[in-house]
Amino acid sequence: MITFDFSRLMEGHAFNGINENEIPIAQKRIDPILREVYQQKPGFISIMDDLAYAETLRPWIKKACHYEYVVVLGIGGSALGNIALHLALRSPVWNHLSMDNRRGFPKVMFWDNIDPDWIAAQMDLVDPKKTLFNVISKSGSTAESMAAFLVVKSILLARGLDPKKHMLITTDPNKGTLRSIVKKEGIPDLSIPSEVGGRFSVLTPVGLLSAAMTGIDVMKVLRGAQQACQKLKNLSLLENPAAMIAFSHESFLRKGFSISVMLSYSNRLFGLADWYRQIWAESLGKRMNLRGEEVNIGQTPIKALGATDQHSQIQLYVEGPRDKIITLLSVEDFDRTIHIPNLYPDVESLAYLGGKTMNELMASERKGTQFALTQAHVPNMSVTFSQITEEDVGCFFFVYELATVLIGSLLEINPYDQPGVEAGKVAAYALMGRQGFEQQAKEIQKYDQKPGGITIRM
Ligand code: PA5
Repeated sequence: MITFDFSRLMEGHAFNGINENEIPIAQKRIDPILREVYQQKPGFISIMDDLAYAETLRPWIKKACHYEYVVVLGIGGSALGNIALHLALRSPVWNHLSMDNRRGFPKVMFWDNIDPDWIAAQMDLVDPKKTLFNVISKSGSTAESMAAFLVVKSILLARGLDPKKHMLITTDPNKGTLRSIVKKEGIPDLSIPSEVGGRFSVLTPVGLLSAAMTGIDVMKVLRGAQQACQKLKNLSLLENPAAMIAFSHESFLRKGFSISVMLSYSNRLFGLADWYRQIWAESLGKRMNLRGEEVNIGQTPIKALGATDQHSQIQLYVEGPRDKIITLLSVEDFDRTIHIPNLYPDVESLAYLGGKTMNELMASERKGTQFALTQAHVPNMSVTFSQITEEDVGCFFFVYELATVLIGSLLEINPYDQPGVEAGKVAAYALMGRQGFEQQAKEIQKYDQKPGGITIRM
C-alpha cells in the first residue's frame, strides 16, 4: 500500500497553502480533464488494457541464466525507469552477490552516459562473451545510444562473437535506424508500443526487460500499475492521488513555487525520485502553450536523499526562498533491521542511540525534517510505501505518469513532446558532421566565434 498525505499543503500549515475554497473549483477543472485523458487514452494508459505484451519477455527470462551480465545501452527515458526498478526491487549490492544469491540471474549495468572514462571502466568489467547488450532507443537514432551500439557491436565482431547472440534491440516497431538494422541483420528485438513516448515507457519492454532478466516479477509491477489505472479513472479529486499531485503542484507553481523537491528517505526509492525528475522536467518545461503563446513554464524537479542530504540541502529548504514544494518519499517497513549497540551508556551524546535501531533513527530523521519544514510553513506532502513491493512500485509509476499529464493539461501545455531536447540532439548531430545537418553546423560555428565572452584560465 502507498499512502499519499497532502495535509501539510493546506492553509494553516503551509505558506500560501491551499485554501479549502479552492478545492471545489479545482475539482470542477480537474475531473473533466481526468475523464478526457482516459477517453483520449494516451499510450501509457492504453497499454494497461492488455498486459499480454509482457509475454514477449518470457523467452529472455528463460535465457537469463546464460549470461553473466545484462547491459542496458540507453539514455533518458530509455534508462531511468530501468535503474529505478533495479534500485527499488533488487539488492543494492546485486552485482556483488554470488550467482546463488542472485538465483542464477545475471548482473546488470546501465550505460546511460558516454563519458569515455566511465564507460571504458565499465567495459573493462564485462566479458562480452557472457553478456547480453540491450540497446534501447525509441527513436532509434539518439547519438549517445547509437555510439554505444556501434562500439559494442564492433567489440563483438572483433572477438568473433555473433551480435545476434549478444545483442537485443528494443525500439519502435516500425520506424528508425535501429528497426532497419533489426530487419536487415536479424538481431533479436523487442518493440516499444509506438504510442508510448520515452519517459512514459518504463512499463513497456524498455524498462521491463532488464528487470525481468534479473528476476523481478514484472507481471506484479504491471498489475500494480494496471490496478492504479483502473481505480484512478473514476476517482474524483480528493480521493485521487494523481489528481491531487497535479492540482497541488499547479496551485503552488502559480504562486511562485517553481521548484519541486522529491526527498527520498530510502536509498531503494531514490531511483524513483530520479525517474520523477525526468518526467516532471521534460514533460512540463515548455516555451509554448497549446494556444501557441510563449509561456516559458515549468517546475524544476530536484531529487534529494535523506538522511544524507539533511547535511547538504535541508538548511536551504527550511530557511531559504519560499519557492519549493517538497514530497517526502519513504517506506514504513525496511526489509532489514540494524540494531545500534549500547557501547557507551555513560556518554550522553551516544547513549540515547544505544538499544535503538537504524530503522528508528531513519524514521526519526524523516519525521524531524518534516516537522522542521512544517514549522517553517514549507509546503510538503508525503508518499509512504508500507513496504517496497513490485505492485506498489508499478502503482507509483502510473500515479506519477497520470499526475504529469493532468498537470500538463492544467498548465495548458503538451506534456508529451520535448522540443528543447530535440534542439540539443540536432546540434550534437551537426557538430558530429551528420549528413543533412550542415546548416545547423554553420550556425553553431558562427555562435562559437562570437567575441566578447569572459574566459578565465588558471
Ligand atoms: O522522454 C523522452 O522522449 C526522452 O527522454 C528520451 O527517452 C531520450 O531522449 C532517449 O531517446 P530514445 O529512446 O529515442 O533514444
